[in-house]
Amino acid sequence: MEKYVIHGGKPLRGSVEISGAKNAAVAIIPAALMVHGVCRLENLPEISDTDTLLHILTYLGAKVNMINRTTVELDCTHVQMDILPERMWALTRKIRASYYLIGAMLGRFGKARTTMPGGCNFGLRPIDQHIKGLTALGAEMDVSGGFITASAGDGRLKGTTIYLDKVSVGATINIMIAAATAEGRTVIENVAREPHIVDLANFLNSMGADVRGAGTDVIKIRGVSQLHGGTYTLIPDQIEAGTYMAAVAAAGGAVRVSNVIPKHLECISSKLREMNVEVEEGDDYVLVRRDGPLHQVNLKTMPYPGFPTDMQPQMAAVLCCAPGDSIVTEGVWANGRFRYVGELKKMGAQIEVEDQSAFVHGVDHLTGAVVKACDLRAGAAVVIAGLAAGGVTEVEDITYIERGYQDLVGKFRALGADIQCVQIPEDRPANWNAG
Ligand code: EPU
Repeated sequence: MEKYVIHGGKPLRGSVEISGAKNAAVAIIPAALMVHGVCRLENLPEISDTDTLLHILTYLGAKVNMINRTTVELDCTHVQMDILPERMWALTRKIRASYYLIGAMLGRFGKARTTMPGGCNFGLRPIDQHIKGLTALGAEMDVSGGFITASAGDGRLKGTTIYLDKVSVGATINIMIAAATAEGRTVIENVAREPHIVDLANFLNSMGADVRGAGTDVIKIRGVSQLHGGTYTLIPDQIEAGTYMAAVAAAGGAVRVSNVIPKHLECISSKLREMNVEVEEGDDYVLVRRDGPLHQVNLKTMPYPGFPTDMQPQMAAVLCCAPGDSIVTEGVWANGRFRYVGELKKMGAQIEVEDQSAFVHGVDHLTGAVVKACDLRAGAAVVIAGLAAGGVTEVEDITYIERGYQDLVGKFRALGADIQCVQIPEDRPANWNAG
């Protein structure tokens, strides 16, 4: 077991290169199961979630050839398994995106079976819209005993019109993947519009699918009989970029955040500007600088192009040191996305949560403490707080963070932060927490 040790209070300076988008990668790798031929993926993030998915594909019989740390060639031509054997269950239960294997296997084989997925714990994470969409495409779905089982009667799904009752990234992705090879035309209405939805559509199209409208709230898909091989480069990670931008806002300094699509960052950039942080956009980078005091703001998370829920904890961490009162409202997840608040309070933050809002009263400074990463973005929030705080912060349960951030320690160290990853001594239980 490892933890991060941060000696905070040092401004960040220099340049950081953003990796490929996690939430695009975890959709595209399962979708590659539908491809006959070699599918080369470039700009894959080197994180544990992608590693887990590549392992699952290997177990299924795919040829997985790492060309370098961020490029992989996948050949799923000879995969025949439509049921994930027991030895893979620990892997599929570990991550959220394993449920995209259902859409991909249904599309490829007309049947599928896997465990219920894992992922960050935000309380209830229903999958009714996935079930609704796949059922509408003609699959018989059964969710029981911790498993999802799906079967398309005569082997091929049939295109139809589906209206999502809730804007869901996961349901949009699962239905898009399954419909890519369904017979006829599928129209999905009220879909999610996140950049990774567009990236998945572009990936599918570059492998021979016919998907239109991704990025708007209606996606239209003409099913093709099968997908063919090709090369695809993933988009950069909007949330990883936003996390470094927030870190500069919290710790101060000036950083060039490179390999980004500034358009994807607009809502984050404009909120940071309201907070008295300078953000200058280039073609594929943003320059972020903070010298003066932060200003308080209110923010509410919403589906894209609204403010991303996956940046909510990081922004709350920044606002802990903004004089005045800020209100951070969660508009995507019903509960469970404020678990970092207890950790930030150990560092001297003044935050109270009521219903869907965190009321943040800015303090002069935060003080280092022993804290834990309650989930992926909650972990990013305590790292940001640790970088801004005086004294030493120890962050435990960092496996959550490593699910989604490539080389977080190396990237922050290159910006001048004093952060290291150290081994927790054996005699200390993994869930030990002094705070
Ligand atoms: N929802 C339903 N029914 C469904 C599906 C979702 O009611 O069938 C509800 C959820 O309870 C939630 C809302 O719809 O209130 C949005 O959920 P969504 O399906 O969009 O979330 P997800 O697909 O499970 C993805 C990301 C999350 C991110 C959300 C929202 C992946 C692997 N995960 O989750 O990312 O918070 O979209 O943008 O893409 C993260 O990266 O840290 C992370 C948690």
